[in-house]
Amino acid sequence: MIKLKNIRMQYEDNGTKIEALKLKELQIKDEKHVAFIGSSGCGKTTLFNLISGMITPTEGSVEVQDVELTSLTEQERDLFRANHIGYIFQDFNLFPEFTVLQNVVLPMAFSKRYTKKEMNELAEDILKKVGMDGKLNQKVKTLSGGERQRVAIARSIVNKPNVILADEPTGNLDYKNGAKIMELIKQMALDEKATLVVITHNNSQLDMFDEVINIEELNEAIK
Ligand SMILES: Nc1ncnc2c1ncn2[C@@H]1O[C@H](COP(=O)(O)OP(=O)(O)OP(=O)(O)O)[C@@H](O)[C@H]1O
Ligand SMILES: [Mg+2]
Repeated sequence: MIKLKNIRMQYEDNGTKIEALKLKELQIKDEKHVAFIGSSGCGKTTLFNLISGMITPTEGSVEVQDVELTSLTEQERDLFRANHIGYIFQDFNLFPEFTVLQNVVLPMAFSKRYTKKEMNELAEDILKKVGMDGKLNQKVKTLSGGERQRVAIARSIVNKPNVILADEPTGNLDYKNGAKIMELIKQMALDEKATLVVITHNNSQLDMFDEVINIEELNEAIK
């Protein structure tokens, strides 16, 4: 379960305070597939960063899998994220000079749960599922956008996270490949019994989800 309560997120930029997000309550039950929508700047990525513990709110409570993230240290939140959250970033965040396989092994190395052999086996397994097994040792900088997207998905899922956060995972893809990638993410979430939250601007994908939440309507900071 994901539970956010009485959230206020205020960024500070060169002494200027920016009220990015204010919301009373947001709950997502385990194994649900939820879409976040809303116009640019309404706070969608900010919410993902709160749920993944990348940032902590100025005020309020963020509970994920019964853990109150605001009471953890930054190091504890990093470990929590490595063990429980699969985050597909808006801009992928892959390491261009590393190979496909190295990029997928990396988060597992961080969580320290597996031997080197296990990590390689798990990574190869998941890369096969996303159709990237032919390019294991190719550097990410030589891949196409869609291929990078598939590596980012493989990396986010390889640790068997309880929660998958996908920030516009099909934003840079054509309609056909976008639909394929969404199907892939959904199937992975089903296989792993993970909660899935996807930020999307693509209305044609919305009926794949149990629930659609408009963050623009929820965010009192922009009203
Ligand atoms: N690190 C930061 N410092 C200052 N302001 C920030 C920071 N991150 C986000 N903001 C501001 O907070 C607001 C919400 O940003 P956020 O990235 O959550 O929007 P978004 O809904 O994901 O938009 P998009 O659809 O364009 O990705 C914006 O006004 C943005 O400028
Ligand atoms: Mg965003």
